[in-house]
Amino acid sequence: MDILSQLLGRLHPLIVHLPIGFLILGVLLYWTDRKTKQYTGLLSTLFLWAGIVSVLACISGFLLYQNEGYGFDTVKGHLWFGIITAVFCFALYLKWKSDSIAVLQKVSFPIMMVLGLVLISITGHKGGNITHGEGYLTEPLPRGVKKALGIPVFEELPIALTEESWENADLYAEVVHPILNNKCVSCHGPKQAKGELRLHHMDDILSGGENGEVIMAQNPDGSELFTRVISPKDTDGHMPPKEKEQLTKEEVAVLKAWIEAGHPFDGSIASHGLDESLFEPFFPKDVEDFYPEATLSPLPLDSLRTVKETGLHVEYLSKDSPWLRVTAINKPGFSLTDTLALTPINDFIVELDLSHTEINDSIYPYLGHLPNLTVLNLGQTEVTDQGIEELSHLSHLKHLNLTRTGITSNLFEKLENFPSLQKVYVFGASLPSDGPKEVSKGLDVDYGGYTLPRIASDSIIY
Ligand code: HEC
Repeated sequence: MDILSQLLGRLHPLIVHLPIGFLILGVLLYWTDRKTKQYTGLLSTLFLWAGIVSVLACISGFLLYQNEGYGFDTVKGHLWFGIITAVFCFALYLKWKSDSIAVLQKVSFPIMMVLGLVLISITGHKGGNITHGEGYLTEPLPRGVKKALGIPVFEELPIALTEESWENADLYAEVVHPILNNKCVSCHGPKQAKGELRLHHMDDILSGGENGEVIMAQNPDGSELFTRVISPKDTDGHMPPKEKEQLTKEEVAVLKAWIEAGHPFDGSIASHGLDESLFEPFFPKDVEDFYPEATLSPLPLDSLRTVKETGLHVEYLSKDSPWLRVTAINKPGFSLTDTLALTPINDFIVELDLSHTEINDSIYPYLGHLPNLTVLNLGQTEVTDQGIEELSHLSHLKHLNLTRTGITSNLFEKLENFPSLQKVYVFGASLPSDGPKEVSKGLDVDYGGYTLPRIASDSIIY
């Protein structure tokens, strides 16, 4: 019996199309037959059938709701409209057949049919919302149209704090609310209330979800709003679900501090005595351009062609930039003599990759004459640190790759004078492993040798 009721329940999505079909067919037939009246008898049969299959749809829908764990709140609108539609189909049948029932005599038949169509549309729409989520139909509409129709549109809210303004910013409205809005409200908001929880408004946050309140005053570890966020990403119930964009550790810290402060919904950051360090990560960063400012006009086209003919790969960094990226990846035989071909474009090179080529220390004087060079890769070549001082003229050089080269620990002393260098990669060079991690302020040494953490699936044999 259980199997039967489950099967019938799962046939609901199919059965629901029958009343829709019968009803629409009835309306069309009534319209096309209004003059000749050939099919009068057929019409009443159609509406009777519409009524019968509507009842079947109601029953199968009810079984689906019982068997598949839907909440009554979720299905009730759809269920009630389904029942009303079924009753209405029988009313249409009775009216068409005899028109002897007093209440039905007052309404004209065409009006009743339009009503029938409206009812079945509402029922269908409500059913669709259960399966696809509310707003499925209106989702593709342009934002402007949605706003005009009063449909809530999701808007990412920026957290706009600055060194000067952070103390006066409203803790909830300007920091906590945007975090919840950007990472949680798509599932816990006006459109959806997963776990019966909404997080877009104070009252909703306070009233909690299906398991009750989600915040315990001043106790983040006792607050589900917080524990769900810090639980390991793979555990059940982690929020936001792992495939969604996660909170950053800075956002987690703010959420924690907010709960510890008694989850206030008004008052400035300063008035709650929170520390600046919590908010610094949200200040705008001064992003200095990585590459030099371009003051040159782009090269004549044929100067690139001659370089390409030598087997080097040359490309512009971007469409509107004069800067070039040159790589010898397809020319392992590249050596000092080949640099002659590059002379006309020397001033334009900002990235140069000579890794895996036949160069040696004799390349340094040439490299020292590339005034805008910013990223240089000499990895897997025979270069050492003999003569590397030549590169200290390069006022833009920021990244230097010397992995698997013959450099020695003398390198670090020499690099101290490099004006802009931020990162030097030395993986696989025979250097003592306890060398400096930082040569000087702002210049990091990357020894590589990264390993990936083991994960469960590593040990599965497929
Ligand atoms: C992709 C959808 C989605 C997003 C985004 C999401 N959640 Fe959830 N959340 C769910 C679902 C589904 C449930 C119900 C199942 C469960 O309890 O795990 C739930 C349940 C919860 C509950 C438990 C409510 C109760 O009373 O049982 C809390 C608390 C929660 N979420 C917090 C959050 C927070 C905080 C965020 C944002 C950082 C978030 N969720 C983002 C889908 C989501």
